[in-house]
Amino acid sequence: MTTPLIVLVGPMGVGKSTVGQLLAEHLRTAYRDTDDDIVTAEGRTIADIFVEEGEPAFRALEKRAVHRALAEHEGVLALGGGAILDPDTRALLASHRVVYLSMDVEEAVRRTGLNAARPLLAVNPRKQWRELMEARRHLYTEIATVAVPTDGRTPEEVTRAVLDALELKEA
Ligand code: S3P
Repeated sequence: MTTPLIVLVGPMGVGKSTVGQLLAEHLRTAYRDTDDDIVTAEGRTIADIFVEEGEPAFRALEKRAVHRALAEHEGVLALGGGAILDPDTRALLASHRVVYLSMDVEEAVRRTGLNAARPLLAVNPRKQWRELMEARRHLYTEIATVAVPTDGRTPEEVTRAVLDALELKEA
């Protein structure tokens, strides 16, 4: 059966793509990102999908992209920050090796700032981020095999911490 070596979850801006690519390099495997899969399949940005069709339509596309990637990908897979909102997706993740990358609100605001590419944080990012995390933190924790804090750590340090936490040896 094909299954990802590692699935990365966590909020926007926590560094899932950067750390995911580093992990893939260290483990000599491929990196895949479900946001990229959606953008490629749809031929437009995530922000455009939100604006043109609304969040529920995006979540439906996301659910399909996540379920497909979990069934197809053997390397490191990063999921969009809200993918874990779907109960079927959470049930599926129960049988995977899931790493939750976490950070506190100050780190989040430093990293994401006023980033228009992230429609959910476009207005008042600190408040929005706090509310998102209040709704989601327990879901990330519930499905995580391990949680790795990223505050004050470089991407290389986070990568090392993930490999250590999972007791994975570099290829
Ligand atoms: C979202 C996170 C984004 C993207 C979309 C919605 C969320 O992905 O899927 O903007 O709900 O947290 P990243 O976590 O990769 O930024």
